[in-house]
Amino acid sequence: MDTMQGLKRTKYCGLFTAADAGTEAVACGWVQRIRDKGMLVFIDLRDRTGILQLAFDDATETALRQKAQTCRSEYVLMAKGTVRLRESVNREIPTGEVELYVTDLRILAKAETPPFEIVDRTNVKEELRLRYRYLDLRRSEMQRNLMMRHKIVKVAHDYYDSQGFIEVETPDLIKSTPEGARDYLVPSRVHHGSFYALPQSPQLYKQLLMLAGYDRYMQIARCFRDEDLRADRQPEFTQIDLEMSFVDQEDVMTVNEGFMKRVFKEVLDVEIPTPFQRMPYQEAMDRFGSDKPDLRFGMELQDLSDLLKDCTFKVFRGALDAGGSVRAIVAKGAADTLSRKEIDKLVEFVKTYKAKGLAYTRLTHDGESSSYEKFLTEQEKQAIRTRLGAEKGDVILVVADGSNQVVYDSLGALRCHLGARLGLIQPGVFRFLWVTQFPLFEYSEEEGRYVAKHHPFTHPAPEDLDKLESDPGACHAQAYDMVLNGCEVGGGSIRINDQQLQQRMFRALGFDDETANARFGFLLDAFKYGAPPHGGMAYGLDRLVMLMLEKESIRDVIAFPKVQNASELMTQCPAGVDDNSLAELGIAVIDRE
Ligand code: AMO
Ligand code: AMP
Repeated sequence: MDTMQGLKRTKYCGLFTAADAGTEAVACGWVQRIRDKGMLVFIDLRDRTGILQLAFDDATETALRQKAQTCRSEYVLMAKGTVRLRESVNREIPTGEVELYVTDLRILAKAETPPFEIVDRTNVKEELRLRYRYLDLRRSEMQRNLMMRHKIVKVAHDYYDSQGFIEVETPDLIKSTPEGARDYLVPSRVHHGSFYALPQSPQLYKQLLMLAGYDRYMQIARCFRDEDLRADRQPEFTQIDLEMSFVDQEDVMTVNEGFMKRVFKEVLDVEIPTPFQRMPYQEAMDRFGSDKPDLRFGMELQDLSDLLKDCTFKVFRGALDAGGSVRAIVAKGAADTLSRKEIDKLVEFVKTYKAKGLAYTRLTHDGESSSYEKFLTEQEKQAIRTRLGAEKGDVILVVADGSNQVVYDSLGALRCHLGARLGLIQPGVFRFLWVTQFPLFEYSEEEGRYVAKHHPFTHPAPEDLDKLESDPGACHAQAYDMVLNGCEVGGGSIRINDQQLQQRMFRALGFDDETANARFGFLLDAFKYGAPPHGGMAYGLDRLVMLMLEKESIRDVIAFPKVQNASELMTQCPAGVDDNSLAELGIAVIDRE
């Protein structure tokens, strides 16, 4: 007779403690492993909270013990029995003091041998893990990641609610909103030849909600961008998206510092000091070669250009004559660690950032070697060493280029690379800052015009308003990025709320009035009907979770992520569709040569 008919689970496996000893209980879960010693059988039963040991011994009914012996890894079981104290306590797991002495067992589902073992420290290839993501997600590490993600979202809802924000859903089938990436398009069946775009962000809708008087909006919003993937980028990702009315930049920053303080305290029990440091964009570039500087270590960039005004070394001379610069970083005490061979690799590394080379001086304890000092005067060489504070044991690394951007990009990336390589980054340290005073535009060689650095709805700095037409490159934006440990976790701006200014902005971006009207007429119209000053920002939720959990990849905090080529390996999407569906949409696929 089935004595388990109608039985319900008493509690999760990981929650049993010595206090339960002597009670009857029912547990459910997956077989983590089975130890069969003949008359003694132990099964580790796993669920999302942990592991409970099931025990069978010589006093167990033979049929029941034999049933236990047929269980294999990943079978799904329901076990009834008595909780008892274990003879040998397992200090490794929280439930290690107790076990369930089983009196009845039901195999709820059998399982084939999984393609990889469900354990935490796995060296299984990510590709295989993603193909069988439902198995990978059984690993407690992944379960922890997703539960932390849930907690972070919960704190976001609670915190912003406490600050008067309300969540409003905005549509996913929209008219394209440019945020600088390519849109994902969805063909319309009803409107032959027309397309929706999936939102790159809810930007315009949240602004319109401010116009509509909602005052403070938040949303956990899914965003879609057809752009090249990286470790911290997905084509489909989630934002904690916010907008506020009647605020300035400081107000937005203060509310969001409060969120960081609260979420780190509640989720990680870490105190985050506020207010955060603020750093103008140009200072970030000059000191760190990056608009998202990692402040967990020094090794700042230093400009050597003024010391080299009379220099004849062709590489430095060429860079300076072309209007660029010569800058350096010093890897303190790294002369023995960074061999010639490794420095050769660093040369290749900076070349991926378009630098043409990397000059070095190694001040080892048994001598000096340099790739460039022989081309300098003694005076120039000493002036550089003095400026850099270089001493025995150090390595000086120099990039010269006619484009400052190339110098920043390559040395900035090299600095981060060396920070990790030389062990300068302490785990468990969270260094926040706001990067402010961004340029309003950047020039796109590709498009031959200025494009918005943040987005076209960002308010210019008030003092630059008269330069919008005459000198767009010199205009600053009322935009800010929140940076954590060298990663942009969030960004936002104060918005334009004036029709004329928005029109000037579109013109500066090279849209004629007709195009601007066709694309954004609804926004320009809306500004006619009473638009409050407003601003906001959006966090990359996936990035925030990744940084809080100190994971290397955003994929580790997303249940079903996409890989490098934007496909999803488990369901194998994207995939073709049948001819009927295409015909209904009036779409034909053209073969690519
Ligand atoms: P932005 O484009 O800077 O601003 O995006 C805001 C934040 O979203 C995260 N993010 C991403 N995360 C994962 N994968 C991606 N492909 C990806 N792209 C961006 C980043 C970034 O800081 N509407 C504006 C916000 C505003 O102005 O209020 C916007 O979307 O962490
Ligand atoms: P060369 O005379 O071209 O061999 O250059 C001498 C040294 O300068 C070599 O160590 C090169 O790696 C280095 N170098 C070349 N181009 C650059 C550059 N753009 N920035 C810094 N160093 C460079």
